[in-house]
Amino acid sequence: MKKRYVTLLSLVCLLMFSMQVGFAAETPAKLPNVKILATGGTIAGSGASSTTTVGYTAAVFPVDALINGVPELKQVANVSGEQISQIASENMTNQVWLKLAKRVNELLASDDVDGIVVTHGTDTIEETAYFLNLVVKSNKPVVIVGAMRPPTAMSADGAMNLYNSVILAGSKEARGKGVMVCMNDAINGAREVTKTNTALLDTFRAPELGYLGYMQAGKAHFYKESTRKHTTKSEFDVRNLTDLPQVDIVYEHANVSRVAVDAFVAAGAKGIVCAGVGDGSLANPVKDALVDAQKQGIAIVRSSRTGNGIVARNGEANDDALHFSASDTLNPQKARILLMLALTKTNDPAEIQRIFWEY
Ligand code: SIN
Repeated sequence: MKKRYVTLLSLVCLLMFSMQVGFAAETPAKLPNVKILATGGTIAGSGASSTTTVGYTAAVFPVDALINGVPELKQVANVSGEQISQIASENMTNQVWLKLAKRVNELLASDDVDGIVVTHGTDTIEETAYFLNLVVKSNKPVVIVGAMRPPTAMSADGAMNLYNSVILAGSKEARGKGVMVCMNDAINGAREVTKTNTALLDTFRAPELGYLGYMQAGKAHFYKESTRKHTTKSEFDVRNLTDLPQVDIVYEHANVSRVAVDAFVAAGAKGIVCAGVGDGSLANPVKDALVDAQKQGIAIVRSSRTGNGIVARNGEANDDALHFSASDTLNPQKARILLMLALTKTNDPAEIQRIFWEY
C-alpha cells in the first residue's frame, strides 16, 4: 500500500515537473496578423524638402514602402499590405469605399487575419471610418490612420501613428469597439471623430464627447465605448451594392437661397442633408425648396453646422408634418453617409428617423 502511494506521488511530481518545463520552454506569445490596406493620403505623401509641410504631394509611396519605413512593426505584428487606391482623400469615392469595405469583410472572415489597419488621407478619414463602422461585419479591430505631415518632413507623425495603429488592430482590447481612428496617441470612435484643425497634429477629436482612449508605451488603454449600433449589430450590407444613392449636403448661411437645393434635385439627388444653422434651423427659401423636394420623394435630414449637440426632432421644424428627419448628433458629412445607407433599405421618413436614433 505504502509502495503504491510512493509510486503515485512520484508520478504526480513527474507530471508537475514536465508541465513546468513545458511552460518554461513555451514560445513567446504569438504575434497577431495585421493586414494594412493603403488608400493614399499624406501618410504616403512626399515633399520637396524636410521642411515642406504644406504644398507636398499626397499619395506617392506604395504600401510596401510604408511598411518597410517602420521596421518596428515586425516586433508587434505579422504585417502584410495591399494597395486599395492611391489618392488624396478629397478624391474618395463610393467606388473606393465599396471596394475597401468588401475587402475588409473578406479579410476579417479569415482566421488568418486578427485586425486591419487602413492608411488614409486625413481630410475625409472620418467619413471612411464612419462608413466602415456601419458596414463591416466583424468584431475584429479595424483602425484607420493618417498623418498630418508627409514622411519626408522633419518630425513626421505617420510612423508612430502607423506603429500605434498596428498594435491597436492586433489587440484583444480593441475587439468590438467599432471602427477607430488612431492618431497622435489618441483612439477616437468613428461616429464621433472629426478633423478640427487644418494643420495641427492633434487635429482629430470627438468634441465634447471625447476620446475612446489612448495609446501609451505600446498598449491600448480604453475608457469608454460607443453606445450606438455598429459593425456586427448594423443592418447595412454592402455585399450586393455596386453604388450608393446620391445624397447631397446644403450648407445654410445668412441670406441663403434655394438654388443649391433645386440644383441637387435637378441633378438626381435621392436625399438631401441640410447643414442648418443652430439646432438645424431652416431659412424660409431653403425650407420651401426642401418641402418641394420631399414631395418628390427625396429624403430630407436636418443636421447642424455647429458641429456639436443634438438636432431636436420637431424643434426648429415640424418634422412630423414635413416628413423630415433629424440627424441626432451626426455632423452633416456623417449624416450624409447614414442617409445613403438608409436609402439602400427604405425611403420611409419614420424608418429613416429610427435609423438616425440608433446609429
Ligand atoms: C488627404 O486627405 O489625402 C490629404 C491631407 C492629409 O492626408 O492630411
